[in-house]
Amino acid sequence: MEKNTATAPKKTATAKKLPAKKGAAKGLQDLFEDSLKDIYWAEKALTKALPKMEKNASSPELKKAIASHLQETQNQVTRLEKCFESIGVKAVAKKCDAMVGLLEEATGIIEDTEMGAVRDAGIIGGSQKIEHYEIATYGTLSAFAKVLGHKVALKELLSTLAEEKACDEKLSSIADTALNTSAIDK
Ligand SMILES: [Fe+2]
Ligand SMILES: [Fe+2]
Repeated sequence: MEKNTATAPKKTATAKKLPAKKGAAKGLQDLFEDSLKDIYWAEKALTKALPKMEKNASSPELKKAIASHLQETQNQVTRLEKCFESIGVKAVAKKCDAMVGLLEEATGIIEDTEMGAVRDAGIIGGSQKIEHYEIATYGTLSAFAKVLGHKVALKELLSTLAEEKACDEKLSSIADTALNTSAIDK
């Protein structure tokens, strides 16, 4: 086991209330629109990142799962555009810092492993973190849409939420069946 030489983040000063930035959301509708823009950016980023993950995966089952989720993700981008349209807001992507971090981590895992079972296990782990982030986001967005009475958007968001959950389960089953055991050091 390598010694962890990284320094822990410094303790911050006492917690304090933060002032709102200029253009901050005034109500739930604003927050809903901002969050839609965020996940719109994230899904678009994923349509570019998933082919790289597929190329670096070795297991045919994992490759197939990533390829099929890429198609779903492209469709999710279209669903988000329908959400924007249904509420009369222009579809604009706003950089999602969380997805930037999650994708950086996934790329880091690929670079830190050799092609094969261990890299596959890392790709599954990184992908599941991404799916969990998406599940949390679409769960929140669905709750907002429901409260705000955005029925068309709600239907679209729930369809995507179901796909993200199914993808997460699929990845778990791939990891369970053979992958993680074949990734154990011999
Ligand atoms: Fe997605
Ligand atoms: Fe996803």
